[in-house]
Amino acid sequence: MKTILRGEAIRFEGNPFQDPAALRHDTDLGIVLEAGLIGDVGPAETVVVRHPDAAVTRTPHLIAPGFVDTHVHYPQFGVIASWGADLIDWLHTYTFPEEARFADAAYAEAIARAYFDEQLRNGVTCAASFCTIHPASVDAYFDEASKRGLRAVGGKVMMDRNAIPALQDTAQSGYDDSKALIQSWHNSNRATYAVTPRFAPTSTPEQLEAAGALRAEHPTCLMQTHLSEQHREIDWVADLFPAARDYLGVYEQFGLTGRGALFGHAIHLTDRERDALREQDATITHCPTSNQFLGSGECAVQDLAKAGLRTGLATDTGGGTSFSMFDTMKSAYEVAQRRGDTLTPAQLWWLATAGSARALHLDDRIGNIAVGLEADLILIDREATPLLAARTNRAETVADTLFALAILGDDRAIAETISGGKTVWRREP
Ligand code: GUN
Ligand code: ZN
Repeated sequence: MKTILRGEAIRFEGNPFQDPAALRHDTDLGIVLEAGLIGDVGPAETVVVRHPDAAVTRTPHLIAPGFVDTHVHYPQFGVIASWGADLIDWLHTYTFPEEARFADAAYAEAIARAYFDEQLRNGVTCAASFCTIHPASVDAYFDEASKRGLRAVGGKVMMDRNAIPALQDTAQSGYDDSKALIQSWHNSNRATYAVTPRFAPTSTPEQLEAAGALRAEHPTCLMQTHLSEQHREIDWVADLFPAARDYLGVYEQFGLTGRGALFGHAIHLTDRERDALREQDATITHCPTSNQFLGSGECAVQDLAKAGLRTGLATDTGGGTSFSMFDTMKSAYEVAQRRGDTLTPAQLWWLATAGSARALHLDDRIGNIAVGLEADLILIDREATPLLAARTNRAETVADTLFALAILGDDRAIAETISGGKTVWRREP
């Protein structure tokens, strides 16, 4: 069945870090939704004439591409907002015991359901999530995404040292389990598998080698891990891998960087690491609420994105404090302000949508409103709260509206979430 969604909309023609005019705004856009895809886009009055057979839905809300979260830990759903002195303390006190519970497949399934409910209430139509070491945690994640028709990236955490015994696999079992999961899930429905060594300190060199082998054997899979989040972690990596020239050097040694490698945080990079990441066409995922919550530092996202690095935005929940990409944009803006390199409204929204799709190498599928892309869209209520209504009603430009939404918006502003052309979440009227 063919339908036309009609209303005010934003989309991108280019990258606002390179082209300040990349944000496109239409006051009355027609979007044809057909077989899960965007079949046609244009001024509504011409689109309705081109498709006289399609039913038209006119929305009073702002239509935008669905949000894309490039780094999240769905198993940490239950421990979001837990007190911790720093990253390593927080991991050992809350995260590892909680992740150990995912040995129970029924628990993993229940959390996956709760996680996707929360994700969709917040207008996130695609996320790249770490699972746990348990294959059942990956099955629960992709199974739930697939039941809901969502595009999803995920992978089994590989971790064979420096964690509680219940949360350790081995180099061999990590390889074997990951390989079987790739065969089950990669490219099935809307799933992309990401080979997922947690981070250098929790894998032996043998396991990193096995992860590198998986990556070489499955070049269309992504790879996700963490890089240079906190100083104590960086010192730990230097102790564990004394021959490596720096933190990125560890991943380089094992074939774990390059195109399709996603590095969470990447805050305290050396110039060499930054240049190498750009040359390798690796991705950096900026996790501003988490970086502030765990006291990790400030990622130079403006510099990285300007330099042409693939850069995405991420909640990093449960280290991050919110599932909302509005909160995450706000936090990204505040961090940039503190660094003295501000982010424009178009840059913030691009990072939350098209830029993050590009960071995941999914920009030919999602992240924008264009013919041939999958129909993952959100309808944003600019008047969701009295304050938002008062503020957005006096906005004179779309950039001003978008900025006010980024600073004041939350889950209440997501009126509807559409995935593959179908409504997967609608707010109570
Ligand atoms: N580094 C290794 N594991 C994690 C994690 O679960 N969260 C964060 N923020 N950093 C990590
Ligand atoms: Zn993380």
